[in-house]
Amino acid sequence: MTKFRNTWVEINLDRLAHNIGVIRKTSEKSVFAVIKANAYGHGDIEVARFLESLQVSYLCVSSLDEAIHLRNHHTTTPIIVLGYTEPEYLNEAIDRNVTCVVPSKEWLVKSLSLNDSLANLTLHIKVDTGMNRAGIKTIEEFKEVLQLCKLNKLNIEGLYTHLSSSNFTDGAITSQQITSFQEFIDSADVNFKWVHTSNSDASLSLGELDKHSNAVRCGIAMYGYSTFDSGLQPVLSMYCGINQIKNLKPGDQVSYSATYEATNDETIAILPIGYADGLDRKLQGFNFYIKEVPCEVVGRVCMDLMMIRVPVGTTLDDVVEIIGKNSDAVVMAEYLQTISYEILTSVSPRITKRYFINGAHHKTINERFD
Ligand SMILES: Cc1ncc(COP(=O)(O)O)c(C=O)c1O
Repeated sequence: MTKFRNTWVEINLDRLAHNIGVIRKTSEKSVFAVIKANAYGHGDIEVARFLESLQVSYLCVSSLDEAIHLRNHHTTTPIIVLGYTEPEYLNEAIDRNVTCVVPSKEWLVKSLSLNDSLANLTLHIKVDTGMNRAGIKTIEEFKEVLQLCKLNKLNIEGLYTHLSSSNFTDGAITSQQITSFQEFIDSADVNFKWVHTSNSDASLSLGELDKHSNAVRCGIAMYGYSTFDSGLQPVLSMYCGINQIKNLKPGDQVSYSATYEATNDETIAILPIGYADGLDRKLQGFNFYIKEVPCEVVGRVCMDLMMIRVPVGTTLDDVVEIIGKNSDAVVMAEYLQTISYEILTSVSPRITKRYFINGAHHKTINERFD
C-alpha cells in the first residue's frame, strides 16, 4: 500500500548497512553519518533510527531545524549541525544537546555576547583549508578563537575541514588541503576528541593521507554512490504504477508545448509522478523501464504526471522502474548533467517511502500521514 497514490520509493536498509560496513572497513575510522536534506531524500527519521542501530558516532545535519526534527523523534545519538547556526538560537542547541560549529571568530564573539553562558554547548571548530566556503581561514584567527574558547571555558570537542575535490583522481588539491589542515592541527595546543576531514570519496580513497583524523563524514557513499568503485549498493529505488494507457496516431502530440510528436502508431502510458515529486522537467527522452524494457519519456514532464512510450501489451498492472537496477541515480544524473546528490535530494517528501530490513518489508511512511 502506497498511501493512495501509486508512486513510491523503496529504501533498502540492508544496503545501507552494507555501505556503512564498506566505509568502516576502508577508512578504518568512526563514521559520522550525513543525513542532512532528509537523509539525501531517504527520510531522515527512519534512516537515523537505523543508523543508531549500527552505532554510528554522530549524525550530521545542515541546520538546527533538521537537528530539532530528529530530537523530536527521539534520536539520541550525538547530532552536529554542520551548517551555520544563528548565535541567537544557541540556547535551543543547548536544550536539545546538539553540537554546533564555530565557523569564524566573528561568530564566536557574537555568540558569547548574546548568551549568558555557552559552557553547556558542545562545539567543533571548522577551518577552511582551501574551499573558501565556511570556516576559519588563517592560523592567526584560529589561535584567537582557541584563546577565546579557553577564556570562556567552552567545550571544544572537535576540529574539522571540508575537501573541495576529493572526487578528483589526481589528488593535488586534496593534498594541499591536507597539508594546510595539518598546519592548523600543529598550531593548536589542544587534544580534540574528534578530528574529521573526509567526505565519502575521500573516506574511500585517501587511506594513510587522512591519518590525522579519527572520523569520516559520509553522505553519498552511505546511500550507495561514490566516484571510487568500492562495491557500494544504491539504497533507494523509485517506482510508479500506470494511470492510463493511450494509443497515438502519427502526428499526435504529447504534453505541454507539444514537444513530442508520434511518428508511428504508438502507445503511451500516463504516470502518476511529475516534477513536483522531484523528477526534473528535462527528463524528456530519458528511459524508464517496464519489465527490463526501456520506455522513453515523451513530452514535457508535468507537475504531477508524465508520459512514457510503452510496448504493445503493457497493462495498467505493470510497474514502472524510474530509479532501480536498470538505471540508477547516476545514470539519471548524467542525462541531466548533474550529480547523483541532486537526484536523491530532490525526491519529494510527498512520495511514499517503503523501508526494507532483512530482505522484508519493514515500514511504509508517507510524511503527510506519519
Ligand atoms: C561539511 C560536509 N561534510 C560532509 C558532507 C558529506 O559529503 P558526501 O555526501 O560527499 O559524503 C557534506 C555534504 O555536502 C558536507 O557539506
